[in-house]
Amino acid sequence: MSANILVFDSGVGGLSILAAVREQVPSANYYYLFDNARLPYGELDEQELIQGCVTLISQAVVQCQADIVVVACNSASTLILPALRACLRIPVVGVVPAIKPAAVLSRNKHLGLLATPGTVNRQYTQDLIEQFASDCRVDRFGSSELVYLAEDKMAQRPVDSEALHNILAPIKASGLDTLVLGCTHFPILREELQSYFGEAVHLLDSSNAIAARVVSLLETSMSGERGKSQALHTTNTISEGLRKTLAAWGFRSATVFNGSLSKSGS
Ligand code: DGL
Repeated sequence: MSANILVFDSGVGGLSILAAVREQVPSANYYYLFDNARLPYGELDEQELIQGCVTLISQAVVQCQADIVVVACNSASTLILPALRACLRIPVVGVVPAIKPAAVLSRNKHLGLLATPGTVNRQYTQDLIEQFASDCRVDRFGSSELVYLAEDKMAQRPVDSEALHNILAPIKASGLDTLVLGCTHFPILREELQSYFGEAVHLLDSSNAIAARVVSLLETSMSGERGKSQALHTTNTISEGLRKTLAAWGFRSATVFNGSLSKSGS
């Protein structure tokens, strides 16, 4: 029997993680739950974020009969993991900024962390930096606007390049050589980011590490036919553009999740 993997985020960002996991474990069934009704998570009150995520994910775990949960959101993972793990009996994989490999990779020992306002200000992030990058200068850049630009891209709307460049200009000017994409939305814009920064800046995210972690947790075989992929959202509707993108990404349906799975998505 193939494993059921629940991947969770506030919006489309977690798809960057799901893609990496699915490449390693194509035969699993994927449930992609995104809480777009409460996006952006990077600006949510912390208690609200913990309670909301724990409730939603716990319900989805039951409904999807999930074997593993991937919290594919740095803003949530840097905050909710202890509370979530206390409620669940299955493995919970969190996604946190790739500070450790970035510190090893950087030649000039000058890193940037590009993440949501929530993630850049978390104690968890501060601890990561102190633990793994104490020999580096680490500049933090918080942006929710970039989250929306990634949402635009996946909804097949044009990405506003002027807005993008305004966000990125101070990062480029800082002289760092390694930029941690500490929000799962940002690898969606990897091409745009890399083309703005050029090859001088190395972009790093956590997706391959997460895929490796999931593989290590699975007991079932990874080969076999591709499993099914189903998307679940918390708003009543999603745009036609996003629906098309999800279909192109192999999701056979995208349905509302309000604590239970609707019939058409089951
Ligand atoms: N994709 C999420 C992250 O990794 C959060 C985006 C948001 O809703 O602010 O932090």
